[in-house]
Amino acid sequence: MTLRSFVVGGAGFIGSHMVDRLVLRGPVTIYDNLSVGKPAFVADHLASGRATLVQGDALDLDRLCEAMAGHDLVVHLAANPEARWGLERTRLDLEQGTIATYDVLEAMRRTGVPRLIFSSSGTMYGETSKTCAEEDLGALPISLYGASKMAGEALISAFVECFGLQAFIFRFGNVVGPRGTHGAALDFLRKLRDSKVELEVLGDGKQAKPYLFVTDCVDGMLFGLDHADARLNIHNLAPSDTTSVARIAELCVAASPYQDAAIRYTGGDRGWPGDVPRSYMNPEKLATLGFRVKHSSDEAVGMAVAALAKEVFPEAR
Ligand SMILES: NC(=O)c1ccc[n+]([C@@H]2O[C@H](COP(=O)([O-])OP(=O)(O)OC[C@H]3O[C@@H](n4cnc5c(N)ncnc54)[C@H](O)[C@@H]3O)[C@@H](O)[C@H]2O)c1
Repeated sequence: MTLRSFVVGGAGFIGSHMVDRLVLRGPVTIYDNLSVGKPAFVADHLASGRATLVQGDALDLDRLCEAMAGHDLVVHLAANPEARWGLERTRLDLEQGTIATYDVLEAMRRTGVPRLIFSSSGTMYGETSKTCAEEDLGALPISLYGASKMAGEALISAFVECFGLQAFIFRFGNVVGPRGTHGAALDFLRKLRDSKVELEVLGDGKQAKPYLFVTDCVDGMLFGLDHADARLNIHNLAPSDTTSVARIAELCVAASPYQDAAIRYTGGDRGWPGDVPRSYMNPEKLATLGFRVKHSSDEAVGMAVAALAKEVFPEAR
């Protein structure tokens, strides 16, 4: 059956990979304010007519409703892209996370779109040494970004109950891959391009997180959409292993033209206040439905660094 999809944040990193998949199922409308996303990421689909781009902001509820009407599925991926920006601008995650998610839900209620996929994050588990499963909400988020994801999930739960939507929430690990717009690997490669002799790494390099390759991320979301059937479905989406920041730094130096660059750690157990130094996520709930990621965390990082190095150092090909 043809699926008419509406992707808020569809011109961004994960969004553009999601659009790659969704155009195979039916027409796609990409709704993006282009603050980070690029039409170039989805240019082939725009040219083929399989996708349409509406430049608009999730905080513009009237425009959102007008563009959303007539779709079967909303995929909500727009958010503040950098958790640490919340340290400088404390309203950012409230507006771009919590209120934007409210607007998407309210637009769905007004226009009658029945199903939602939402990009949450493992950061909502907060700081804990446990391997987090979906029911583990003992620790609270320690960043404003994580808090906005938790608030978004709470709003979704309430809209599902009160207005009959069906929702699929995915708590991602750190997503990496081609067209990445932010994150440690891209930061490190850009720093190497600028410095050439030294790579500064925030923290002691021992921070370790599960890294999820972006095609595993979009395939996992669509698998959940096709196979989960509760009204509110919540799944972790991450590999079970982790990769250290030191390993990412070493891979970036090796993939750059500056292989003699020194790595300098600023010290401390985390990159910035609110950064969860070590996180472990349990992928078993989605695995029991039949989905496992194809790539381990180390593989995902290796593939992403190789792809991003080509984007950052095009002349070195
Ligand atoms: N990348 C990760 O590691 C990761 C991990 C966990 C969760 N997430 C979540 O996944 C989603 C997508 O992340 P991404 O890495 O692709 O980021 P991204 O910044 O590349 O994509 C977000 C897109 O949303 C657009 N956007 C931002 N604010 C908007 C607004 N107010 N109105 C309309 N469009 C807006 C941006 O232009 C961009 O195209 C986000 O919700 C993010 O919090 C990402």
